[in-house]
Amino acid sequence: IPTRIFQSASDASKAVAEEIAELIKQRQKEGKNAILGLATGSSPKTVYAELIRMHKEEGLSFKNVISFNLDEYYPMQPDAIQSYWRFMREQLFNHVDIPEGNYHIPDGTVSPQMLAQHCEEYEKMIEDAGGLDFQLLGIGGNGHIGFNEPGSHENSRTRLMMLDHSTRAAAKADFGGELTKVPKKAITMGVSKILSAKRVVLLAWGERKAPKIADAVEGVVSEHNPASYLQQHPNALFVVDEAAASELI
Ligand code: F6R
Repeated sequence: IPTRIFQSASDASKAVAEEIAELIKQRQKEGKNAILGLATGSSPKTVYAELIRMHKEEGLSFKNVISFNLDEYYPMQPDAIQSYWRFMREQLFNHVDIPEGNYHIPDGTVSPQMLAQHCEEYEKMIEDAGGLDFQLLGIGGNGHIGFNEPGSHENSRTRLMMLDHSTRAAAKADFGGELTKVPKKAITMGVSKILSAKRVVLLAWGERKAPKIADAVEGVVSEHNPASYLQQHPNALFVVDEAAASELI
């Protein structure tokens, strides 16, 4: 997997934001929408901050952006402080001119009976929009992409996933330091939808990500490290800082 190593997460984020901005502008010229797959978590925050700066200072418009987030805890109310709905509004959508209704996040409030249908509809909305032009990813300390935990099949579809202990432990701080408050499940876009994006860019900052980055780039493709599936993508890029690159040969 092609990998670009930057001195800092901030330099790296600027390069990624630049690529996203170019895509949005290109689609604008063509009179089309840019279909973005977006991630939450700490890694993309600096990318979103740079996109907001471009909107405010350089007039970058998000009017033609349609976005689909990777995942949401289940169950989760949209107005809860830990919800990804709230995260996306606070980190990006409230600060740019994306029309409400153009962004989509799996619904953490659907009833168990409606879950399967909701997941199907989520995939169908992406397909109806024309498929993902660009998918932004982070990587879990266990190699997860979206919330496709180790063991996820490359053909997996949008579905409810049991979260790994390590994933819940990493999220503990967001839930008042109490592991028991971290949801045990999440709705996640499947690996197959991620791999169907025309372009995939995965971000990783810090030492904690180094082992799975090295394994995904240089190891065998395996369900034990879902990020390794990106070896099979023709147009994927890993964007990492020096600490996350430290175990690459
Ligand atoms: C978030 C997501 C997760 C995170 C991953 C890394 O929408 O899908 O896969 O990208 O857990 O999280 P951070 O960036 O907080 O280290």
